[in-house]
Amino acid sequence: MEGSRVFMIDQNKLPFHFKIASFDNYLETCRAIRDMTVRGAGAIGSAAGFAMAQASLMANEQHYEHELEKARKEIEGTRPTARNLFYAVERVFTAALKSTDQAAEEALSIADQDAKDSLAIGQLGMELIPDRARIGTHCNAGWLAFTDFGTALSPIYLAHEAGKKVFVYIDETRPRSQGARLTAWELNNAGIEHVIIPDNATAHFLSRGDIHLMIVGADRIAANGDVANKIGTLEKALAAKRYGVPFYVAAPSSTFDLLCEEGTMIDIELRSEAEVLYVEGPDDQGIVRKIRTASPGSHALNPAFDITPVDLLTGIITEKGIIENPSKQSIEEVISG
Ligand code: MRU
Repeated sequence: MEGSRVFMIDQNKLPFHFKIASFDNYLETCRAIRDMTVRGAGAIGSAAGFAMAQASLMANEQHYEHELEKARKEIEGTRPTARNLFYAVERVFTAALKSTDQAAEEALSIADQDAKDSLAIGQLGMELIPDRARIGTHCNAGWLAFTDFGTALSPIYLAHEAGKKVFVYIDETRPRSQGARLTAWELNNAGIEHVIIPDNATAHFLSRGDIHLMIVGADRIAANGDVANKIGTLEKALAAKRYGVPFYVAAPSSTFDLLCEEGTMIDIELRSEAEVLYVEGPDDQGIVRKIRTASPGSHALNPAFDITPVDLLTGIITEKGIIENPSKQSIEEVISG
């Protein structure tokens, strides 16, 4: 954030163009969160914190608190499953009640804290990765999704930096293809060996013993350890359990919602059917085109997330420690302790 302007990498343009977009007020920043210019629970949280700080700068002094409340509701409505969004909005809202300067400082400190958490997740999580590991991941939980190294990808980045040989299976992550577009782009840039597989191929590779370990991110984790993450996570977790492959979730404590008792209580965002019915990308001439791939006249359902029950998890890698076989009690001990 510079002055009242927020800058972000436009993730909708990746991997074909790298463009930094800027947003002058909180309503524009809300639009960027909704249309997924910025995405990934942590990055959404950071952006939401900055949006709240922008709202405090814009608010009319006479109706300051009322306008802050209005902005808060608007921001919270953008991507309701991402816990970090509510966490950041709450913190910056409270700071904004004191002053606009404190709001901006608080928003920055959330991003700084995320960077520290990301490093700690990586340092703890890399111990789970043996040399020559073949790791599966889903969606994008890298540095585009959480400052600085990401969540699920942080242990992979640090293992690679430490000289371990790693190979990553990235599934496409339909309908928006965050795996094929964003995770593949990140790993290409980092020089980490990987391959993109169709969404429906993970169970096949797990069944053959080709994938030794799965690590995914989370959008919200309930008090009992149930995890909301990108649609398709549940299927991978079920297959991993069937074939005895360890399945880890990597997430900071800011993604836990200890007031939410279990996964069934998590609000699952429903997105536009167009994301399922059409694909978008550049043709051979580099012109971006949107093409319908589904039968004309049919409709689609597009839940953005699913819930993986805690009993399918081997553990949760947090910045405070790895919670093996998570339970309400062990989560409370690590997260609140
Ligand atoms: O819809 P998205 O792309 O925002 O969903 C992202 C995910 O599901 C990630 O796995 C999750 O946010 C963790 S990334 C810190």
